[in-house]
Amino acid sequence: MQSTVNAIGVNRERFLDELMELLRIPSVSADSKYSSDVRKAAAFIEQKLKEAGADKTEICSTQGHPVVYGEKIINPSLPVILVYGHYDVQPPDPLELWSSPPFEPVIRDEKIYARGACDDKGQIYAHIKAFELMMKHGELPCNVKFLIEGEEEVGSSNLGDFVRANRQKLSADIILISDTAIIANDIPSVTVGLRGLSYVEVEVTGPNRDLHSGVFGGAVANPINALCEMIASLKDKHSRITIPGFYDDVCELIPEERKAMAEAPFNTGAYKQELGIRDVRGEDGYTTPERASIRPTLDVNGIWGGYTGEGSKTVLPSKAFAKISMRLVPDQSSDKITSLFKKHFESIAPPGVTVQVRAHHGGNPVVTPSTSLAFMAAGMAMEKTFGKKPIPSRSGGSIPIVALFEKELGLKSVLMGFGLDTDDFHSPNEHFGVFNYLKAIETIPWFYFYFSELQKKDKHPGVSA
Ligand code: BES
Ligand code: MN
Ligand code: MN
Repeated sequence: MQSTVNAIGVNRERFLDELMELLRIPSVSADSKYSSDVRKAAAFIEQKLKEAGADKTEICSTQGHPVVYGEKIINPSLPVILVYGHYDVQPPDPLELWSSPPFEPVIRDEKIYARGACDDKGQIYAHIKAFELMMKHGELPCNVKFLIEGEEEVGSSNLGDFVRANRQKLSADIILISDTAIIANDIPSVTVGLRGLSYVEVEVTGPNRDLHSGVFGGAVANPINALCEMIASLKDKHSRITIPGFYDDVCELIPEERKAMAEAPFNTGAYKQELGIRDVRGEDGYTTPERASIRPTLDVNGIWGGYTGEGSKTVLPSKAFAKISMRLVPDQSSDKITSLFKKHFESIAPPGVTVQVRAHHGGNPVVTPSTSLAFMAAGMAMEKTFGKKPIPSRSGGSIPIVALFEKELGLKSVLMGFGLDTDDFHSPNEHFGVFNYLKAIETIPWFYFYFSELQKKDKHPGVSA
């Protein structure tokens, strides 16, 4: 792998320029006005896979945004790594909070600022560049397949069908994903768990039309007040979720596991300061890192209704709405939690209002093995390039397709990400360190190398590599 890795320096500027070109394409999957840009990003990715040396590339259409597929099979008897990532991004708003426009990438303080810089364009592009270098230097040690989708940020709702229809094509030994974070640039980590997600939208209806709040106020239920009461009742004074059965399937960590987690560096003061909060808040009996990774949550993501324009309008509104997400942990099931929520929320509607609950996309939580060859290979690769053994860490985010890959392909994933939780993905001023981008390009080939070596030894014990 040495020639590959040595070549990163001389290619640095080009690697950055190409990523910036990708970041200029506003591939926002949630908003249909960007759908031609989403296709443009897919075409760009396909082109770059081809140029890097993939011998088969395709843009596969789905019911939604296309999936880009590419592969390089050097020898069918060698292992196959399936690289998964996404080229779509979250909407960039609120635009006024960006220091530079979200789709005009700039490098400031050794960080690339743009929507998607870290999540996930920068990380998936690092894979393409690592592959390009391994090809160029004749150092690709195994087969590789790329599956790069355009709907991750809207729940990957069509990828399941694609995977089911293409089981053979996607057959592999391991799935490698860089769409998560390390603890810090000097504290590498490999993600060993992701939370699942249930996402619902609720609609509370009171009177059949907006009313004068003086004439009717006090006598008719206000749906916004009712919604607030209902939401407030979803957690008790210990910040425990009150939906009956919500915790039934939650796996509690054993004390040794919690102890190991507590060894990862975490500074509450710095955390509060960085976020501008006076204090942290969450479920009693758990630390901040635990609350944000191994415990389930319920959060209102948006709430609206009534008059929100300039000045005041004395109105008793007819309707109120909220979007609510619940992050789930093993062994909770997204479908089950969504139906428990629906049943409970409908049951707590006060007199005078009616409630409707609609389910959005979701996904199941996962823990990935931390004793597998692939996990060892990720550890060895990171140790090689960071100079330190990575810490296994559970992440609070969700990548719903990971559980689906396990179910449909019978394949485990290795979550070897290179972002930082402070990279502001989904927020204004998303960025990705130049260090992180280049470190990814350097580490990925070593994963290929160690994974191939370990697989060989596993197949032919005793024969040295
Ligand atoms: N890359 C993130 C998931 C993530 C973020 C993992 C931080 C680990 C650390 C992914 O693109 C994402 O944002 N997923 C969504 C879920 C999806 C269904 C919209 C999420 O977690 O909100
Ligand atoms: Mn992502
Ligand atoms: Mn994301």
